[in-house]
Amino acid sequence: VTKPIRVSDDLALPIDAATQTFAFIARKGAGKTYAAGKLVEELLAAGVQVVILDTVGNWYGLRLASDGRATGFDVPVIGGLRGDIPLEATGGHLIADIVVDSGRSLIVDVSQFSLSDRKRFATAFGEQLWKRKKGESRPTPLHVVIEESQLIVPQMAKGDDARMHRR
Ligand SMILES: Nc1ncnc2c1ncn2[C@@H]1O[C@H](COP(=O)(O)OP(=O)(O)OP(=O)(O)O)[C@@H](O)[C@H]1O
Ligand SMILES: [Mg+2]
Repeated sequence: VTKPIRVSDDLALPIDAATQTFAFIARKGAGKTYAAGKLVEELLAAGVQVVILDTVGNWYGLRLASDGRATGFDVPVIGGLRGDIPLEATGGHLIADIVVDSGRSLIVDVSQFSLSDRKRFATAFGEQLWKRKKGESRPTPLHVVIEESQLIVPQMAKGDDARMHRR
């Protein structure tokens, strides 16, 4: 029996949340990033591997001490203005390999890339990650967070395009 993932005082999720898919959808400034950050803190505390594709450049905050914690989480940051090591837009495939080979939680900060470079990075990263995780004989849980995912992941469902043009 594992401790529940406590996202807030009135929301606790079973540890299976690690392998579930969530979307934080709300109006601007409503607390989407904050809520996702809480979920990530709880997953990290439970020992789950978490990788954050940070399109904003704020997630390094996980490393900082907060709400009485002595220190934040020991999560390397790759890329961005505060990264431990720089990130190349062509590095999506390589970073996916590092994620799988190291088993470590990581913040991958793509905030300094152009929109097309973010898409290029995320596509290579996503494809290679999918391939590597599918090929694992004993798959380990990995939770991937995509900040401002609408910038990278196509949001339209089949038929939306036609409907939008009719408006
Ligand atoms: N539950 C909370 N308790 C205290 N502060 C909160 C809470 N949720 C959000 N905040 C604060 O409110 C502000 C906006 O939250 P956040 O950045 O998470 O919103 P967002 O929905 O991600 O915004 P955006 O649409 O701009 O991405 C931040 O300063 C955040 O620290
Ligand atoms: Mg946000």
